[in-house]
Amino acid sequence: MHSSLNRRQFLSVSAVALTAAGLAGCSSTTKKTTSFVRPDSAAVTAAEAKRRRTGTVVQRALTAEPVTLDLGGKAAKTWVYRGTSATEPLRGNVGDTLKVALTNHLPDPTTVHWHGLALRNDMDGVPSLTQQPVGPGETFSYEFTLPEPGTFWFHPHVGTQLDRGLYAPLIIDDPNEKADYDKEWVIVLDDWLDGVTTTPDEVLAELEKGMMDHGGMDMGPMRMGNTLMGATSPLLGGDAGDVYYPLYLINGKPANDPQTFTAKPGEKIRLRIINAGGDTAFRFGVAEHQLTITHTDGFPVEPHEAESVVLGMGERYDAVITAGDGAFAVVAEALGKQDQALAVLRTGSGSAPSKSAKLPQTKSPATAADLRAASKVALPKRGVDRTLTLDLSGGMEKYDWAINGKRMDMDQPMRDALGIVDGERVALEFKNSTTMWHPMHLHGHTYQLPGGGPRKDTSIVLPGTTLRVEFDADNPGRWLTHCHNVYHGEAGMMATIAYQEN
Ligand code: C2O
Ligand code: CU
Repeated sequence: MHSSLNRRQFLSVSAVALTAAGLAGCSSTTKKTTSFVRPDSAAVTAAEAKRRRTGTVVQRALTAEPVTLDLGGKAAKTWVYRGTSATEPLRGNVGDTLKVALTNHLPDPTTVHWHGLALRNDMDGVPSLTQQPVGPGETFSYEFTLPEPGTFWFHPHVGTQLDRGLYAPLIIDDPNEKADYDKEWVIVLDDWLDGVTTTPDEVLAELEKGMMDHGGMDMGPMRMGNTLMGATSPLLGGDAGDVYYPLYLINGKPANDPQTFTAKPGEKIRLRIINAGGDTAFRFGVAEHQLTITHTDGFPVEPHEAESVVLGMGERYDAVITAGDGAFAVVAEALGKQDQALAVLRTGSGSAPSKSAKLPQTKSPATAADLRAASKVALPKRGVDRTLTLDLSGGMEKYDWAINGKRMDMDQPMRDALGIVDGERVALEFKNSTTMWHPMHLHGHTYQLPGGGPRKDTSIVLPGTTLRVEFDADNPGRWLTHCHNVYHGEAGMMATIAYQEN
């Protein structure tokens, strides 16, 4: 069935079928003499002990399993987490202990990664780096303190599993925050192919055969098998994405069977928007409504008004709208792909918007570059102790996506680890030397964008540009940084940043 991936996964299982001591052994195969903090090191336990705790335990069982979904009349055989969805997110208060027993009913090993959380390293869900993968039929207990309030999500960190239905929101509330809105909705955006046209494993295999570089050509997107040529968006600096998706979803629903959100005219509604896509940036907006952006990647920003906002894969934005009177299109335009996801906001009578209801065109929808961190979450000013440059390279012809010339091998994730030291202020320079944009993500920390910009964990890095961000190294462990295009990441655009033992 699916070829190279399964072989790799199998190897990865056997490579990590070792004890924790074996994990430590990985670092001795490197040339470096440095030793790194391990997921089971005292430093990890000590960092967890310092987190503010409420004493409340939120306990959930999570089952990853195959199902057949009805996507607007199309049957899709796929994999999901039973009992969680956009309308049933995992939810707790900051400081609560989240205890999730993950049972794997899939035919392949899996893990759960808690995207955006500065959590204890041994619960980060990265196979052969922070834990052994959870085999078919096995159960693994995730248990950690919820470190910060905000809009987060979770997904597997094995192969291309996240491009199936394996994702759901994790919402962390701050009971002391005064809610300046009447209700809130979680809005999860996704590009969908699994079980409709093909599987993510097959897509990766097609991509790995290589594609002609189509730079310059502008004929609109052209489908070739399950890939796309010539999908471009000026908002993304050119090439927008490489994968053909037959469907785009909001909260698991395609445009011909949209979710309807109901409210009363004049109500203020907080939207928590999450891009759970594999290869698609979305421009999100609500027809005839202004967005007041209040948060990105969980962290507050100075309120910013916009008609629409661009989300790369992995990014989240919270925005407040004041509901008008009638029925309105909630639209997520799949940038460069000439298609969109749709939901409906209904507060009164009026016919439902058409499937192809468009957002007004605008040259400059909001992006992270327009935002400033709220003062209470801005990093204190101080000098940078260490700069790590991450040179993003690779292309479509060889599908050889890499960081600093190295393609991640998940059997040896510590091989080229970049060292940092607890207590440092670290600058990360994402230098994009490719002709394509990349949504770069850092595990375990929330960095700040330059010039008082927002705190974030995932950022769009446009082709030919360098994005320099800073974070405080205050969460010892071994952390990935990678492209959140699941196909780029799986092809090798990942690196490990590891704390050195003092
Ligand atoms: Cu949501 Cu390593 O990623
Ligand atoms: Cu990428």
